[in-house]
Amino acid sequence: MSNRVLVFDTTLRDGEQSPGVRLNVDEKVEIGLKLVDLGVDIVEAGFPISSPGDFESVNTLARELRGVTICGLTRAREKDIEVAAEALKPAERRRIHTGLGVSDNHLEFKLRMTKEEALETGVKAVRYARQFTDDIEYFMEDSGRADPEYVYKVVESIIAAGATTINVPDTTGFTYPNEYYHLIKGIIENVPNSDKAVFSCHCHNDLGMATANTLAGVLGGARQVEVTVNGIGERAGNTALEEVVMALHIRSDKLHCQTGVDTRKLLPISRLVAKLTGMVVQRNKSVVGANAYAHSSGIHQDGVLKERSTYEIIDPLLVGAERSEIVLTARSGRHGLKYRLHEMGFDFTSERFEHLYNEFLKVADTKQEVDEDDLRELVNK
Ligand code: KIV
Ligand code: ZN
Repeated sequence: MSNRVLVFDTTLRDGEQSPGVRLNVDEKVEIGLKLVDLGVDIVEAGFPISSPGDFESVNTLARELRGVTICGLTRAREKDIEVAAEALKPAERRRIHTGLGVSDNHLEFKLRMTKEEALETGVKAVRYARQFTDDIEYFMEDSGRADPEYVYKVVESIIAAGATTINVPDTTGFTYPNEYYHLIKGIIENVPNSDKAVFSCHCHNDLGMATANTLAGVLGGARQVEVTVNGIGERAGNTALEEVVMALHIRSDKLHCQTGVDTRKLLPISRLVAKLTGMVVQRNKSVVGANAYAHSSGIHQDGVLKERSTYEIIDPLLVGAERSEIVLTARSGRHGLKYRLHEMGFDFTSERFEHLYNEFLKVADTKQEVDEDDLRELVNK
């Protein structure tokens, strides 16, 4: 099995489904170009039949983005597939992403189909889509809550019909990592023609397990991850691109897998997506949050100032951040204060410094953070 994990970015499709987010075509192209530059393999550009605006976006991205596969989402319906194929026409490489639900819940309450009817509909959709491109991805919506035996049957028939990537979505963010691992591994081991397709993780974050589930899927043999920048998406969002990429990178001892992403571009694209979508990144967000490389307590500052790796497993330069930050608060110690004063060009005798430190603590007790202006005031007192 290859060690290369394909990155399928769905910021512009599932990400844009975040309540309150609307990107215009120019904004999508701006993000799309940065995604290509970042090194993702597939850009899911939208759901062409959903609106004329979405059709135009997919069509424009298909024309403007080079060196990447452009994907359009469809339901398992001929009309959807035709419209997607039309929108994707200018793409260098095009993928149609079609599919249907597989859980009892979706079959009964949403699709109102029997298992056999749903399977037949899916097979027909894949065969129909194959006339437009050889690159067909099939999503089995709500796989996380489905009967694995039925999932195996669907996968076998869908691969036989011509699908080349099988998406195993945990649509509702329901599974535990060990369950998702066994789901993917079970498919690969039990489906006779599983070697003919790539398996893809598409996990939602309703219980905060999207990244863990995606990595568990890779451990189980999946070689594509479906992610969004900053983890934006429906409800609690999708799996965050930057988290999966960095987890694979930092813990390459564990999974021995690589992506084609240039990690130094993670922070710039995170900021761009936050700005254009208006979805603010929480300060303590993994990898790209404002606090991700900031140290405030005295014990941590002391460690980091002696050797960064004592409290940082990611070198901030690796993700495009400037450097680790020493933030002065009431929890900070002498090492942190001395370091910040030194950076500002101030070095004091121990007696004077001790006096300043005591003054600093008084100020620190009254505010969340002691900034450079406060320090200057203390020094000039
Ligand atoms: O979450 C999901 O199941 C999806 C599919 C449409 C791929 O987004
Ligand atoms: Zn989704």
